[in-house]
Amino acid sequence: MATMQTVQVELGTRSYPIYVSPGLFAEDGNAKELLRPYAAGRKVLIVADSNVAPLYAAAVERAVREVSGEETALCVFPAGEQSKNFETVAMICRTCAQNQLDRGSLIAGLGGGVTGDMAAFAASIYMRGIDCIQVPTSLLAMVDSGAGGKTGVDLPEGKNLIGSFYQPKAVLMDTEFLKTLPRRELINGFAELIKHAILFDRGLFDKLLNAGDDILTHPPMDEMTELIALSCGLKAGVVSRDEQEKGERMLLNLGHTFGHAIEKVQDFCGFEHGEAVGTGLAASARLARELGLLAQDEEEKIEEIVRKYELPMAIEDCKPEELLHAMYSDKKNRNGTIRLILPHAIGHCEVHHDVPDETILKIWESFLP
Ligand code: GLY
Repeated sequence: MATMQTVQVELGTRSYPIYVSPGLFAEDGNAKELLRPYAAGRKVLIVADSNVAPLYAAAVERAVREVSGEETALCVFPAGEQSKNFETVAMICRTCAQNQLDRGSLIAGLGGGVTGDMAAFAASIYMRGIDCIQVPTSLLAMVDSGAGGKTGVDLPEGKNLIGSFYQPKAVLMDTEFLKTLPRRELINGFAELIKHAILFDRGLFDKLLNAGDDILTHPPMDEMTELIALSCGLKAGVVSRDEQEKGERMLLNLGHTFGHAIEKVQDFCGFEHGEAVGTGLAASARLARELGLLAQDEEEKIEEIVRKYELPMAIEDCKPEELLHAMYSDKKNRNGTIRLILPHAIGHCEVHHDVPDETILKIWESFLP
């Protein structure tokens, strides 16, 4: 079995560990030992969606129950982004109340980004805030949303418009859980992993580029554990330095201004989030090259990695003007200008506000079939 990797998110008294290992929640896994500081003697509510609950809730319940000494409560909601709303958060809070969770209790989010964001949001408001831990089951949640403390729900007017910064007490990642993840979901997660590599770490980029062909079919557990821990270490550093996205954390939006525009123009029913980010990474690189910020061979490597991980390099049925318009409505913009994160080299990116519309349109055109 691969050695467990531990990454610490340093936030003073709110610091917390991220544990990454295959088999954490196996019968002989380390989960019980790792859960003890957070679950011993406490009531615990596990939150999961209707896809993940039948797969992993029993294993997580078993580990939690042994440590807490109490029956655990389980709250299951219908899988999908359409559940990411106030009604589901109210249901989670009501399940807490019905099971007599009190201020000393714990909520555990077991699942992907939607589950983690809502479980932590409910924890941040139930009885004015109780502890939560995250047990991410998708690659995207392991490398991105599962750690960092962004919580929230969607409104009909837009995604993630309501939320809070609320850090978990610990994050437990069992990489064996990735074995049941559909290939498309795995690809989604790789987009965010590649993003971290382009932002901060050429060594990680090269590891991803040189990974064997089985990385998308039978991802080797040792390799995945190493890649996830490296990616979490990069994100943990950013969150430690800029928890509330006042500066450096904005860089984590690399590929997202392009990606959100694709999602919006396709009304969130064409590309998956990670796929849109993947195309956004390639578009950011093309734009940076067009502006003379990024060397041609660096841009070609970024396109190569996007293709290797089967992320889309063409956008169907979208007009460049519509995509540009959608970029102007991105909620991360300030003062009516489009905020873009652009690579200057693999491992180094900067924020730009002043890219001419004509240049952005030219890049969109280059992605049309
Ligand atoms: N997903 C970007 C962030 O956590 O800031």
